[in-house]
Amino acid sequence: MTPIMASHKNSTFTSSSCSTDVVTNSTLVVPVTSAWSWFLLKVNCLQHFGVEAVLRCDCCVINMVQMEEAKVSCLSLLTYHRELLVSRLRSIQCILDNLLAGGFLCEEDVEIVQRTVTKTDQVRKILELVQCKGEEACEYFIFIIYNVHDAYIDLQPWLKEINYQPSKEVTVMKVVNTDPISRYCAKLRHDMNRDTSFIMSYGQKEETRLEDLYTDTVMEVLNNCNESLGFLESLDQLLGDNSVFNPQGEIIYVMGDAGVGKSILLQKLQNLWSQKELQTDTIFFFKFRCRMFSLFKDTDQISLRDLLFKHSCYPDHDPDNEIFDYILRFPEKVVFTFDGYDEIQEHVDLMNVPEVVSPEDKASPLQLLISLLCGKLLKGSKKVLTARTGIEIQSTVIRKKVMLRGFSPAHLKVYIDLHFKEQEHRDLVSVQLNASPYLCGLCSTPLFCWIVFKSFRHLHTMHDSFHLPDTCVTLTNIFLLLSEVFLSRLASPAPSLLKKSTRCTSETFTAGLRPLAAFAKLALQSMERGSFICNQEEISACGLTEEDLPLGFLRPVSEIDANGSPATFEFLHVTLQSFLAAFALVLDEQAAPSSILKFFTECSRKRQQFCLPVDFCISSSSRSSEKKPFAPNEHLQFTNLFLCGLLSKINTGLMGHLLSPVLLRKKQALLKSYLSTSVRSHLQGLPHHSASDGKVVHVLSNFLWMLRCIFETGSKDIAQMTAKGITAEFIKLGYCNIYSGDCTALNFVLQHRKKLLGVDMDNNNISDYGVMQLKPSFCKMTVVRLCVNHLSDSSIEILAEELCKHKVVKTLGLYNNHITDAGAKLVAQIIEECPKLRNVKIGNNKITSVGGRYLANAIQKSTSIFDVGMWGNSIGDEGAEDFAQALRNHPSLTNLSLSANGITSKGGKCLAEALKENKVLRIFWLVQNELTDVSAPHFAELIKANTGLSHLWLIGNQFTVDGMRHLAEALTHNTELKEICAKGNQLSEEEEKEFQSEKRLRFH
Ligand SMILES: Nc1ncnc2c1ncn2[C@@H]1O[C@H](COP(=O)(O)OP(=O)(O)O)[C@@H](O)[C@H]1O
Ligand SMILES: [Mg+2]
Repeated sequence: MTPIMASHKNSTFTSSSCSTDVVTNSTLVVPVTSAWSWFLLKVNCLQHFGVEAVLRCDCCVINMVQMEEAKVSCLSLLTYHRELLVSRLRSIQCILDNLLAGGFLCEEDVEIVQRTVTKTDQVRKILELVQCKGEEACEYFIFIIYNVHDAYIDLQPWLKEINYQPSKEVTVMKVVNTDPISRYCAKLRHDMNRDTSFIMSYGQKEETRLEDLYTDTVMEVLNNCNESLGFLESLDQLLGDNSVFNPQGEIIYVMGDAGVGKSILLQKLQNLWSQKELQTDTIFFFKFRCRMFSLFKDTDQISLRDLLFKHSCYPDHDPDNEIFDYILRFPEKVVFTFDGYDEIQEHVDLMNVPEVVSPEDKASPLQLLISLLCGKLLKGSKKVLTARTGIEIQSTVIRKKVMLRGFSPAHLKVYIDLHFKEQEHRDLVSVQLNASPYLCGLCSTPLFCWIVFKSFRHLHTMHDSFHLPDTCVTLTNIFLLLSEVFLSRLASPAPSLLKKSTRCTSETFTAGLRPLAAFAKLALQSMERGSFICNQEEISACGLTEEDLPLGFLRPVSEIDANGSPATFEFLHVTLQSFLAAFALVLDEQAAPSSILKFFTECSRKRQQFCLPVDFCISSSSRSSEKKPFAPNEHLQFTNLFLCGLLSKINTGLMGHLLSPVLLRKKQALLKSYLSTSVRSHLQGLPHHSASDGKVVHVLSNFLWMLRCIFETGSKDIAQMTAKGITAEFIKLGYCNIYSGDCTALNFVLQHRKKLLGVDMDNNNISDYGVMQLKPSFCKMTVVRLCVNHLSDSSIEILAEELCKHKVVKTLGLYNNHITDAGAKLVAQIIEECPKLRNVKIGNNKITSVGGRYLANAIQKSTSIFDVGMWGNSIGDEGAEDFAQALRNHPSLTNLSLSANGITSKGGKCLAEALKENKVLRIFWLVQNELTDVSAPHFAELIKANTGLSHLWLIGNQFTVDGMRHLAEALTHNTELKEICAKGNQLSEEEEKEFQSEKRLRFH
């Protein structure tokens, strides 16, 4: 943009977005633009000051000579827009400071302004003063508003309107942003940056810069019913408007399993914002951890202002309370992050939340939190809330749902490279990981990955022969490894690089028993209190000394006490606290041995739930507390799991060094007997029902924890008993949040199963690693349902190998995975070679006509196939032709869906013709294809042939009323068809009425 009066020293008048301003002699030609009205205003203004303006059709000619003399100026702008400025200019501090520093005002002037009572009068006074001081002062005044954008956000539209461009002269002048809001914002960013730059652990030595280790994880966006809407590609998209399923909701809900990286994701988001690297117009960013809200006393009452300023970031310079006012006026400029809702959900459920909390009211901190989350306070602010998978909140307040899925194989590779600087280590770790799909599965959870890698690095440096644990490593082993690393810090001096010591795990644990037992006691006590934070007294009471703290189990919580040392601590991760609590139960020689079972008892007291999708849609507020889902007790479940691991046979050697062998055996026996009994009664208590697949049982999420525990015990007996105890022929594990690691546990039990079993694992997070783990169990599976599980072709390779070997499979569900034509070829092989296979669901994959041909050919040869679902692939007309071929005289295929496959009338014609020679197909889905009237006569022929087809789905095609007439007429010759669904074609409502008498032709 070119200033109109480019030669005018003090001018701020500029043309609107002109591309070709032409200056000829003293005449300026400005094309008329959208700011035409503003220009008229300017002209008015010019005339007001005695300037002659000449307008000529589409351009304006201004006599520059006269304008030069007129000195149209910022001064006049301030006069002209005085009232607007008075009403919109709110923050005067920064203006005064800069005018003073620039020498345009003196101290006395400032005092005069400050003595004025109301804000508007103060602004009037300033305007008066700067106008008195002359043009330069006025120009500088506007420049301050322009420069300190955030503080004068209300005036930015005005600057745009007058098309303000600072002159060269004024741009060299310094403006210091002393506006309270901007300063506060800078402080927020500074503090946020300080707090988020490191992944916290105990002591500086251990800390890693976030940017050195942060690796993207898989962020899947879900809708209200937890169906996938795709993936987020960057954190910028988290706050953005894409994939919002409920625009009225305000919470961006981030879910994920323990250790999957929810807290780190928030930390990265905060860190990016602190460095202005997040694409957002957020001015204020407040981060809270939910566990902090349970630290307040029951009687504590605080206001929203206290919550923001005292418990997050204090504004140092805000005499007029501008910051809080601004936050209330522009809540959409505020982002909150609340980490770990699962940690307080129990408290929230018990709380009686009042309907409305005003910004000025004092309330309990928890009430404030809920009011913020529900949008009763600061409506319009953005809120990111994290919680463990399975925690339900009212779906009406959720705006967007993101499920964290951990590291993909590609992420894992990046993480290896970040974690290990030496190529030799990278290679070693990659080779060892590749050899163990189970370990890979575990390492898709960043926390477990971090532990494994940290242990590897440490133990590999200390000892020559250290390898990553291979098959059948349990979670307990992983946490034992971490403890070993921490405790080995007690060994002094550090071993020299040349002389590596031999690793002796039991020695390390025996030497570290005192602090280990003390940490364990602390963990257990806090857990019994339902707390995740411990203070100095509690730490000392457990016998921990200052020297013990740097071992690494604890880390400081950011609050600092009066002496400058951290006042409170928490365990590195809540799962580590669970692990140590289990250790305490094992080590305790005082309490009755049966007390090891206390958390089992507590967990089983809670009502158990079906793992059905419907659960996700129930609001927590409508539940009474005893109906609470199992998930909030997850830390107790983890304690039980670790207890099983610590008391397992393989750890007897180690544990025997830490407590009396007699007591150890006693505890082992107790646990085993408890597990056997509870598994038995659990399995008997499972609700069964009969279905076409035989006796079906819906498994509870508790069953999954049971499987995990059994795997940790490593007990063959219990596994065998469990396998036998499943009396149903079909178990449903859908929507149970099974991840790849769980498949090892499932396999551990199923391998002992003698009878065949159908297993529905739809809608979990099994991935290729999980399928690899299940390999030995496929031989028994009659139903293999793995829909929506992030499987690629490599999973299908395993399935093809196993299923074709054993030939017992009847149902294969692979809907909504990442299967390509290569995978389709393998599925075709399964169809061809498995004589009992009746149902194949392979829709929503990436199958083209190439894969379509393999499948069609295989289906053609199969005499058992009954139902095939191909919805949402892209086989096109070529694929349709191949399927037509397969359908001709097919002996068994009864249901077929080729919906949403890009099939036009060409393919439609082939299908219709072939179907005339088919006596078995009953339901045919061709929804959402591109069929037009061209194919209508062929479908009419098919209808007339009265083949036995009973349902024809043609929803969402391109038939018009003409095509429909063919079908309607044909129906009069047909006795078999029950309905043709034709909704969503190209017929008007009027036209649809024409077919009212043909009830079988449906448009609704
Ligand atoms: N995106 C990531 N990149 C690198 N490391 C991660 C990432 N996410 C998690 N981690 C590691 O896993 C640990 C646990 O993550 P955290 O965010 O605390 O899990 P959650 O909050 O889901 O339980 C972190 O301390 C860190 O070491
Ligand atoms: Mg967390």
